[in-house]
Amino acid sequence: MGIRRVPGRIGFALLALAGALLTGCSTLPQSPLDVKGPVAEMQTGLLMYTLWIALGIGIFVTVALLFVVFRFRARPGVTSVPKQVHGNHTLEVIWTVIPILILVSVAYPTVNAAFATSTPPADAFTVRAEGNQWWFGFNYPEGFTTANELRIPVGKPVRLEIVSRDVIHSFWVPKLAGKIDMIPNRTNVMWLQADEPGLYMGQCAEFCGDSHAKMRFRVLAMEEKEYTAWVEQRLAMMDGPKNLSEKAVLGREIFEGSKANCWACHTVDGTKAKAVVGPNLTDVGQRHSIAGGIMDNTIENLQAWIANPPAFKPGTTMPIHEGRLTPEEIKAVAEYLHSLK
Ligand code: CUA
Repeated sequence: MGIRRVPGRIGFALLALAGALLTGCSTLPQSPLDVKGPVAEMQTGLLMYTLWIALGIGIFVTVALLFVVFRFRARPGVTSVPKQVHGNHTLEVIWTVIPILILVSVAYPTVNAAFATSTPPADAFTVRAEGNQWWFGFNYPEGFTTANELRIPVGKPVRLEIVSRDVIHSFWVPKLAGKIDMIPNRTNVMWLQADEPGLYMGQCAEFCGDSHAKMRFRVLAMEEKEYTAWVEQRLAMMDGPKNLSEKAVLGREIFEGSKANCWACHTVDGTKAKAVVGPNLTDVGQRHSIAGGIMDNTIENLQAWIANPPAFKPGTTMPIHEGRLTPEEIKAVAEYLHSLK
């Protein structure tokens, strides 16, 4: 029996080890161990530092325990109790001083990192990040708003004012920084910086209702020149959509009409749509994803999403349009949204 159970235990231990190793797999899109910015570097550095110390303590304690267990185990024929010792000043001083030193060596870098990660550099610009069930809104200092995709210049610190419009969410971009709660009626501040251009995945990290797991966003880090050009372009979009195709014009009419009523919840800058219930759609055509970061931004996905949002995001307040709009009308609205870029 005993022999048969051993492979099971070894197997379990190996599985646990594999699990632990895979958790640290840095090729995952949301790995906090594969960091690309100074804030995440500080956080991961602290994690690894304390991990090594904890590992050292763990090994020391385990070895000491095993030594005592085997050295003083009961042996056949030996009935006497080992020698009992009470009070040893040298030992007591040693096991008081060593833990104090360990705690100080962990506390010092922790406090340093806590201040450094919560104090944005003086040259940072501020974006206001809003949590909503279940999407993210971003308000830029230039006065425009976007959703579910935060564009930032590479190598520049960004100060984030973190708020919520409904329940508690949490803002987290594992490779760059995080996480910090988005709390109604309170502004939290954090900062992040991307050292390499790229698309970084973000995720709400606080349970916030039916579609919490589907509350995502992306951070697009762009070379500074590209970023500045984008800001210019985005500001020009405040005047309303330009160069719409015939089908997109029809889509816009439906979007702003009483049959679909999209305009009653969304904003498209420079048009009749000025509501802030749902995400701002002025630049939805240039985003990498739709529906709060859960679907790739394609015409087909836009159509499927508009037709039946709750099928993709349970609990969403966006109504089903299948049945109220014809497939052709849904297609036209998708065409309109796709051309908003
Ligand atoms: Cu928002 Cu979870």
